[in-house]
Amino acid sequence: MSDKPGYRRPQAGTQPDYLHPAYQSTNLRSPSQPLVFLPHSLSEITGPTIGAERVNEKDNDLTAQHEGEPQGERIIIHGRVLDENGLPVPGILVEIWQANAAGRYNHKRDLHDAPLDPNFTGTGRTVTDADGWYQFQTIKPGAYPWGNHYNAWRPAHIHFSLFGPSVLTRLVTQMYFPGDPLLEYDPIYNCVPDTRAKERLIASFDLEKTIPSYALGYRWDIVLRAVLPHRPDLAEPRRPDRGRHPWRARGDQWASSGWQRRCRQRRHA
Ligand SMILES: [Fe+2]
Repeated sequence: MSDKPGYRRPQAGTQPDYLHPAYQSTNLRSPSQPLVFLPHSLSEITGPTIGAERVNEKDNDLTAQHEGEPQGERIIIHGRVLDENGLPVPGILVEIWQANAAGRYNHKRDLHDAPLDPNFTGTGRTVTDADGWYQFQTIKPGAYPWGNHYNAWRPAHIHFSLFGPSVLTRLVTQMYFPGDPLLEYDPIYNCVPDTRAKERLIASFDLEKTIPSYALGYRWDIVLRAVLPHRPDLAEPRRPDRGRHPWRARGDQWASSGWQRRCRQRRHA
């Protein structure tokens, strides 16, 4: 038996089904053979340290990347990135991409008959702070049609990518908006079987974050996979200033740090 740490497997029903016939692409790309169990090895439990060095000052403000302001409803999206043990995950890269207010991506393969916005690229990135917080300012994306079925429209959504401390904590997902009438018709949203897990894909309106006369606020927390309890030392979040996983840190220098003591206190609180 390997003494290497593993990560928790996803709870049943919380992830999209590989095969969801209503989502037509899954009929072609889903596995046709029984899945093979793969133990978590070094290549999965470690990963590239991607963090602050990739992020520029205005990368998290999608309304300030061009000379003029983009069209649409300004919004602020913020939240915390936690692991399944409830610990914040600091110093990790969070990236988003989205359609503009008219429902058009700034991409050559998007042929939707809606206007492009010269002041909106639709991509942003940031790094979580010491307590796992992230924030973006952007505009609310529009719904757009797609060819999955007759009169198919994607609900307004923002794509998210997160690089956690290992390959197994990489997460690519979508955030939705509350009250969207298209959600019940969307096979991508509905391919998550567990109702509560599906509803966690919807952000909450946040009046506290709303800026008067300027922008609406939304809160969306994100939970990444956690290491198994038998190696709780690996549950330590990465050090914010260096973006390194504790498993790879040089022991003495880090083991005595105040940062690690605070982590222990939080974990045992
Ligand atoms: Fe999309």
